[in-house]
Parts: sequence; C-alpha cells; structure tokens
Amino acid sequence: MPIATEIRPVPGSLTDSAADLVALPVSRGDEAPIAATAGAGLDPAELDARLPAPVAALVAHYELTGNPGEVAQFPADLGAGLVRVVLLGVGDATPGDLRKAGAALVRAAKGRTTAATGVALLEKASEGGGAGLAAFAEGALLASYRFSLASAPAGAEPLQALELVGATSQTAAAAVARGETVAQATGLARDLINTPSLEKDPAWLAARAVQTASTAGLESEVWDEAALKRDGFGAILAVGAGSDRPPRLVRLDYRPENPAGHVVLVGKGITFDTGGLSLKPNDNMKLMKTDMSGAAVVLGAMSALAGLGTEVAVTALLPIAENSVSGSAVRPGDVITAYDGRTIEVLNTDAEGRLVMADAFGYAAARLAPDALVDVATLTGAAKVALGTGTGALYSSDESLAGALAEAAERSGEPVWRLPLTEEYREVLDSRVADLANVGNGDFGRPGATEAALFLREFTGGLPWAHLDIAGPGRSSSDEGVLSKGGTAFSTRLLLHWLSGGEPVVGGGAA
Ligand code: BES
Ligand code: MN
Ligand code: ZN
Repeated sequence: MPIATEIRPVPGSLTDSAADLVALPVSRGDEAPIAATAGAGLDPAELDARLPAPVAALVAHYELTGNPGEVAQFPADLGAGLVRVVLLGVGDATPGDLRKAGAALVRAAKGRTTAATGVALLEKASEGGGAGLAAFAEGALLASYRFSLASAPAGAEPLQALELVGATSQTAAAAVARGETVAQATGLARDLINTPSLEKDPAWLAARAVQTASTAGLESEVWDEAALKRDGFGAILAVGAGSDRPPRLVRLDYRPENPAGHVVLVGKGITFDTGGLSLKPNDNMKLMKTDMSGAAVVLGAMSALAGLGTEVAVTALLPIAENSVSGSAVRPGDVITAYDGRTIEVLNTDAEGRLVMADAFGYAAARLAPDALVDVATLTGAAKVALGTGTGALYSSDESLAGALAEAAERSGEPVWRLPLTEEYREVLDSRVADLANVGNGDFGRPGATEAALFLREFTGGLPWAHLDIAGPGRSSSDEGVLSKGGTAFSTRLLLHWLSGGEPVVGGGAA
C-alpha cells in the first residue's frame, strides 16, 4: 500500500505504550531549545535518570536548535526495556513546523513497528481547531508514502503505526482524521501519477476516476471517443489522434446540500506526452507518465470533499489523452476546432496540454457558469525554469481568487508565486489562418509559461479564473520531508485547504 503508516490517537502515556520508538518534541524556545516531556508518564527527574544523560544535557550534547524536522536518536530504557528515543525538533509548533516534524519522525522511524509521541500535548498543536495536529498527521503519513513495482522494494520498511498520546479529545481526533483524509487524497493522486503509462492509458484513468467517484459519493460522466465527436470536443480528439488508445473526458460532481457556491476544477490529463510529431528528446520524455498530474490532483481532491464536509459544490473536468506519434497524429500546421467553435492552428504538437484544457474550459464556460474556474496542469517547462521544483506558478484573472489560493498554499505548505498575464504578449498567439495559434511566434524572448496561460485565458469566457502550472514541483527527484521520489501531487492539499478550509472560496463569499 502506498501510505503504509497507521495513526492512532491513544490515551495514557508514552511509557504505557508498547512502542519501540518514543519521540519527545523539542521546541525552539525563546532563548534555548526546550524538550517537552509531558505525556512521558514519568516525572522529570525519573525520566532524566533513565536517559543516557538528563534531557537538557542531551539537547546540548547533540547541539539541537529545535528547528522543525531536526532529529537526534539514542537508546534508553524508560521502564519496559530498551527503546529508541528520538528528540524531534518541532520549531515553534506552527502547522508548517509540525508538518515537517511529522515527516521527519516517520523517516527516522523506518524499520520500526510502533512509534509514540506526545506532540499532541503541545499547547500550540490544538490551536485553531487542531490545525497543527492535522498537519503533523498529514506530514507523517505523506512521508510514509512509497510506490514500487519491484518484487522486493529496496530500503527499510516504513513505520507501521504512530501513536499520538493524548490526542483523544473529539477535537483532536477530528483534526487527526482531517490530516489523514488530506494525506490519503494526496496518496491516491501520487499512485495514479506514478503508474507507468503501459498500464495508464486514457480509458484506465477514466475508469479510476469513475471508481473513485463511486466510493466518494460523486456523480460521474465519461465521454468516450464517439461522444467526444458527437459533442464537438475537437481539441481533445486532435491531441489523442496519434494514439491507439483513444481520449476521454471525465466529469465528476460533488453536490452538498445548499452549496455555498460552485467551483469548476480542470486537471490536465495527458497519460503520456511524447510531444507528438514535435517529438521530445528522450531526456525530456522519460518522466512524461507524470503529465496527467493535474487530473490526478483534481481527482485526489474530489475524493476528499465529502469527508472534509466541504460546503461548496465542485465539478471536476478531466480532459484525458495520450499525446503520441503515428500516421494519424495531428500535424504542425493543422487547424482544429475547439468545443467553443474557435479554430486553433497547431504550430507545435508538444503544446498539447493547453489544447485539451481549452475544450474543458469551453464546456465549463458554456454549460456550467461557475463562480470560479481553477485549473491544475504540468503545462510548461518554462514554469519550472522560472520557479524551480519548490514553487508552483499561479496565474489569475481575479485578485480575490488569486489571494484566496495563495493563502491556501501558505496553509498547505505548497508555495506558489503569482506571475503576470502580460497583455503585450497576447499578440504572439495571433494566427494567420485560425482564431489562435497554440504557441507564440513573437519576439518576446519566449515567455513560455505566460504564453500558455494567455492561451488558456482565451477559453475562460470571462469567468474568475486561476491557473496553477505545476510542471516544476509536480515531481521530486528524492525522498525528502513530505515528498517521495516521483509524482508529488503538488497542490492537492492546496485545493483542499482552499475548498474546505472554512474560508469563502471566491471574493467575500461565493454566490
Ligand atoms: N508536459 C509538458 C511540460 C512539462 C515540461 C512538464 C517539463 C513537466 C516537466 C508540456 O506539454 C510541454 O511539452 N510544453 C512545452 C511547450 C512548448 C512546446 C511551447 C514546453 O514546455 O517545452
Ligand atoms: Mn507537451
Ligand atoms: Zn504535456
């Protein structure tokens, strides 16, 4: 299973637990780092006597600062035989700090059966309805995620169980459950992203979406190739035309009673991006099974809405195609007709994401009239060049929507940076033979991420719209913190914090 660790709120104390690892939180403190021993079940003097040295001396010995995620480990007998004791840096115990600490604890506990910690007893962990505790659980679970198709996966087994001593109040248990729900949504998205495209074709991904919808209580609808033709989704069909595995469009609906507004989420679902006839070199192609990350992120978020008690209605649109090469592939210079009736000159078949999204946007604008349209896509290598792998690019036509998403990103620990929709660049998308070209032909030094965003904006029908280009942070090259090597499902948590965080999703409250 992808997320291997189970979290259990438990009563009692650390020393009652049969854990083979016990983690004591170390806060940064005002002057010097402080180890919190609440929940140890031993008075401070007895605890000191059972450790290799008094806890304050150990903090000094290991030169701990209390920074979040810092770890020092040693063996000690706390009364029930030798266990591993971990001094775990929790910083100032903000939700961001506790998310890092949870991840660090689970990474330090690899190969162990049960870990126990008193982190839940930190006063700050229960502030804000337990936001810190939720983040701690989320970080711990995400760090235990792994994906492997090897017959014997390398490395130590992930920690089996994490006991949160004292997290038994209703509020604390609910916070832990929220963290779990968000982590499971992310894990689902990561699994889809990490699945190789040999298995993952458009029909497969659409079937997974329908399956998820039925477990999560969502309505679903799938357009197969014939339905896409019937309804005029010319851009999705064009991108899928070079593959033996035909495209799909999936619509999912979450409808709470008396919804506080309606949001449409669109996720780019390219199950493999060869570049098409504008073929990618192998180095750029080899990780392109992840080019459906947007669709996976949206699907992951959809799976968690009911569990989080989300009050806004949400429709997901997942345009899914394989961008491949064959005699039937769309050619550079071809002109295609999008759902909204506009013609697009395809000058580069590798700029395929914006094409499939144009059809989904056209459908949203014509048929759904939501309060906000938000898309997630591994859209451009340029976004990765601009912001690296740590930060997503945010574009928006609406100040308050941009603000709400940036704030959710802050809370979810998935940083985004807003880039401008520079109007002067729009003209490079003018075509001599069609309404628009899919890539720029101008001399603005190829502002690739902005060009793509300006192309998408054409299809939003003036709706309040925001675009997350996650080409950079969508993949991780190592196991670190809450990330594991491979697909990160970046922005799943952001969407959930935005939609389910108790704040209005658009403006002063969606209509
Ligand atoms: N899927 C790629 C973007 C991408 C690049 C995602 C690197 C993740 C990592 C997208 O379809 C693409 O090929 N974009 C082109 C656009 C260009 C042809 C205008 C790009 O970024 O090079
Ligand atoms: Mn491409
Ligand atoms: Zn792509």
